[in-house]
Amino acid sequence: MIDRKRLPMENVKENGTMKNYEVETPKNITIKGILSLLMQSIDEKDDRSAISLGMGDPSTYSCFHTTPIAQQAVVDALQSDKFNGYSPTVGLPQTRRAIADYLSRDLPYKLSSDDVFITSGCTQAIDVALAMLSHPGANILLPRPCFPIYELCAAFRGLEVRHFDLLPEKGWEVDLDAIEVLADQNTVALVIINPGNPCGNVYSYQHLKEIAEMAEKHKILVIADEVYGHLAFGNNPFVPMGVFGSIVPVLTLGSLSKRWIVPGWRLGWFVTTDPSGMFRKPKVVDRIKKYFDILGGPATFIQVCVFLFLFEYTVIPNPPPTFSFSSFHLFPLVQNFVFSG
Ligand SMILES: Cc1ncc(COP(=O)(O)O)c(C=O)c1O
Repeated sequence: MIDRKRLPMENVKENGTMKNYEVETPKNITIKGILSLLMQSIDEKDDRSAISLGMGDPSTYSCFHTTPIAQQAVVDALQSDKFNGYSPTVGLPQTRRAIADYLSRDLPYKLSSDDVFITSGCTQAIDVALAMLSHPGANILLPRPCFPIYELCAAFRGLEVRHFDLLPEKGWEVDLDAIEVLADQNTVALVIINPGNPCGNVYSYQHLKEIAEMAEKHKILVIADEVYGHLAFGNNPFVPMGVFGSIVPVLTLGSLSKRWIVPGWRLGWFVTTDPSGMFRKPKVVDRIKKYFDILGGPATFIQVCVFLFLFEYTVIPNPPPTFSFSSFHLFPLVQNFVFSG
């Protein structure tokens, strides 16, 4: 028999009625939230069309489409009847290997498949990173401006957010002096988005090194959101933060969504770019794996096509003339919009 006195209070009916489950929801608003507010207020009878300047979904622009080779690979995978089952929750071994090999091409060391965990888009990789790091009293350093999901996710996890500014006069570099002031013994990580959303900046090798050194000084790891990896405009080439993994442990987050123009396929990665092996400690690995057991992972038939994307189709072929109207090209102009008043 259940001992009612030992049940948590939330589970006990009070006076025969259910407890109230209307828990306070974090007030943070995301880009998708704002967009849906705007769309709701559009007058359906008004025949003027609305132009979206905000969504990072390249597939909504007719000039962007993914390769027919990958589409055919998905069809083949489905029709083969071989990939209708569950994959391991951390991802198929061949998918983990393909991503490890792909990312290792730009690193001074080689990642192993065990460093790679397959997620449902980069959004879920963000959730995994914050879930793994949250504990009572912990805080995280986020850039301002930032991709809003980080703040929302931190709010759901009870993780205190501390902001450091990105400096427009220095090409949206991280204000390293602010990190010095904000970081304390309860800081678990600092987040960088490179290439940046929403500012379109691409950090130089030197600046990334300075960030790594600052993080190491405060013994905090770096979460590097590289969902726009290699979509770099301007003078700086894209350098992955993992290059500095020997200075400070880095969690690299990415996905197929932007570069390969398939955000709806929901295929992303959470990667421990950490040659020092901090994330290979059995207890840490066990915790990450258990969390993935809850998540379940993206569709198996999409996972089998990842190799093709990464190694046989890595650039947008023959950008059409309309290419410059893409949201990607607009990013660097955000600075002018914001600071011209
Ligand atoms: C900086 C940043 N991180 C993560 C994401 C989410 O990526 P995904 O669509 O793969 O979940 C986005 C999407 O716009 C983004 O801009």
